[in-house]
Amino acid sequence: MKLNHIYNSSSEDMREIPDESVDLMVTSPPYNINISYGNKWENRKIVATKGQKYDDKMPEELYRLMLNNVLRESIRVLKPNGSMYLNMKNRMVKGNLISPNWVLDYLEKMHLKNIIIWQFDWGGSTNKRFASRYENIFFLTKNRDKWTFNLEDVMVPSVNYRPDRYKTQLKNPSDVWKIPLVSGNSVERTEHPAQYPEKMIERIIKVATNEGDVVLDPFMGSGTTALVSCRLKRKYIGYEIYPDYIDIAKKRLEQKIE
Ligand SMILES: C[S@@+](CC[C@H](N)C(=O)[O-])C[C@H]1O[C@@H](n2cnc3c(N)ncnc32)[C@H](O)[C@@H]1O
Repeated sequence: MKLNHIYNSSSEDMREIPDESVDLMVTSPPYNINISYGNKWENRKIVATKGQKYDDKMPEELYRLMLNNVLRESIRVLKPNGSMYLNMKNRMVKGNLISPNWVLDYLEKMHLKNIIIWQFDWGGSTNKRFASRYENIFFLTKNRDKWTFNLEDVMVPSVNYRPDRYKTQLKNPSDVWKIPLVSGNSVERTEHPAQYPEKMIERIIKVATNEGDVVLDPFMGSGTTALVSCRLKRKYIGYEIYPDYIDIAKKRLEQKIE
């Protein structure tokens, strides 16, 4: 397998990656919510509403079949002590809210350790129900009892610190993560319409891998996983069907914004 490389093909078939060779799989699959637009940004301003396209409207059955194939391949390539972090969210389909928990049926061979709530402060505006302001991150391990979990590297300041009670001012970040979405004027913003924040991926890569480990993203998009892996001295490997997005990822990797 070619490390530090994004393959321009569907991750339903990851033949380039041998069995049990990846330490962490982290990804955000297409949501299948009919995103087929993309704004074009220049100097942090929208200069056109037709940017890089992202076709996200498969028939539901085909969408689930695709995801099942990708997850089966991901389980195959994960090392026996490897972990998976899968970012998915609720969707409105024909007037009804569908939770993403159905995906767990495809992951019966894995061990579910957390359903993380990623919470943010804007987006999802509506005046007929409460605005949707969270997504899920399913954290699963291949082995029931053994996996990498570098808690020390991701501790956060404790608000209620009491020197008489606690050994340290830092605490476990818990399963509710408040991390802003990538806004239009954020420095990390690219033309990709569904980018996830570097800060979120940084926490996952730090906790689930060590330097030199291999991180797989089967839906690489604008290359956030690749960029953060490089910064943290991990190796990445990924798949992306749209060459335009691979170009965006390559540009980001060349610039390696610190
Ligand atoms: C939600 S986006 C990922 C965004 C990424 N996390 C980022 O920060 O830029 C999903 C990506 O998966 C790509 N994609 C969809 N189906 C794919 C497939 N079968 N194989 C590989 N990539 C696919 C889409 O083109 C899109 O860029």
